[in-house]
Amino acid sequence: MHKLGVDCIERSRRLTEMKTAFRALYGAEATLGVRAPGRVDLMGSHTDYNDGKVLTLPINRGIWILARPRSDGQLNMASLNMDAGFSFDTAAPGQHREQDWGRYVQGVAVELNEAGHPLHGCDALVHGTVPLASGLSSSAALEAASATLLEVLGGFSLDPVQKALLTQRAENRWVGVNCGILDQYSSILGEQHKALMLDCRSLTHRYAHVPSGLRIVICNTRAPRQLSGSEYGDRRAQCEQGAAFFAARNPGIRALRDVSLDLFEKYASELPGKVARRSRFIIEENARVDALAAALDRDDRPTIQNIMKASFEGARDLFEISGPAMQCMMDAMSAAPGCVGCRQAGAGFGGCLVAIVEKDQVDAFCRSTAAA
Ligand code: GLA
Repeated sequence: MHKLGVDCIERSRRLTEMKTAFRALYGAEATLGVRAPGRVDLMGSHTDYNDGKVLTLPINRGIWILARPRSDGQLNMASLNMDAGFSFDTAAPGQHREQDWGRYVQGVAVELNEAGHPLHGCDALVHGTVPLASGLSSSAALEAASATLLEVLGGFSLDPVQKALLTQRAENRWVGVNCGILDQYSSILGEQHKALMLDCRSLTHRYAHVPSGLRIVICNTRAPRQLSGSEYGDRRAQCEQGAAFFAARNPGIRALRDVSLDLFEKYASELPGKVARRSRFIIEENARVDALAAALDRDDRPTIQNIMKASFEGARDLFEISGPAMQCMMDAMSAAPGCVGCRQAGAGFGGCLVAIVEKDQVDAFCRSTAAA
């Protein structure tokens, strides 16, 4: 099958190519289509599993799935990006565990099945434009699109927050990545051209203002990051250790979100060095989310720049999720024309960085960063 790659291709060409490939593969027309976007976080690295806040928005790259219902309960899925497809029986979706990207789809089917929703089979074809392992939530986009596909096929409809929680569980339990709610929530509840101020404790959001003269630009280091490796889980465990330390002193504290910087500083010397550094980062980063939203609201560019720079430095020096490729990209972006502010995106350990750029200098910014 002709592969499309992850290029951000024009929508009508993308749909035509997908329909043609579907017909060639399954010998019939696709009768339905679903999609879900990737996301980028403007502020709030690793704050989600600390019950904190994130300023996040869906991006113009995502997963599309075309499908045609089957009457035998079998779900067959192929991809225009990946070589191997997979199949499972929707009557027993967890019977054998898919090893590759099929796990994300299967995990969603398993969770829906356990929750008692009727599953229906189909032939399906996926195409994604979110680069893999780049910190832009290609996994959550696939989970969200799969959940929508199964909703449409099964004739039921999930509450969006419940759908985010269900797809997060699929990733936690079936894929084995102990992620927070950020990615799935952003992909499912995000709206085009709107930044969400997400509260990961109450699972609610409000919209944040992004001045009309600014654009969001994502720069990919192409240094791949792997979340199922131990680093993500280690960070999470260290944060939980920090939260437990403060909870033992104040029963009102449930997560690092509840710890003020003053309280942290009072006890910081009693914490193991790594736990102290991780905790300080989360407490400061969480405060930066509100601070960035306020600075965007006032269109206060010097403050936007300082907050984003502080986030990058904290991620590098305290949370230790940076790397040489990220530093190199940060330097190139900071020096480029039109850059108001920039920082890491996603989990770190490679992947993408995000910049807020003057609208009329986006081209110059991209040229300069790419050249550097
Ligand atoms: C990954 C996880 C999210 C979140 C981010 C870091 O994308 O899936 O839950 O923790 O990293 O902010």
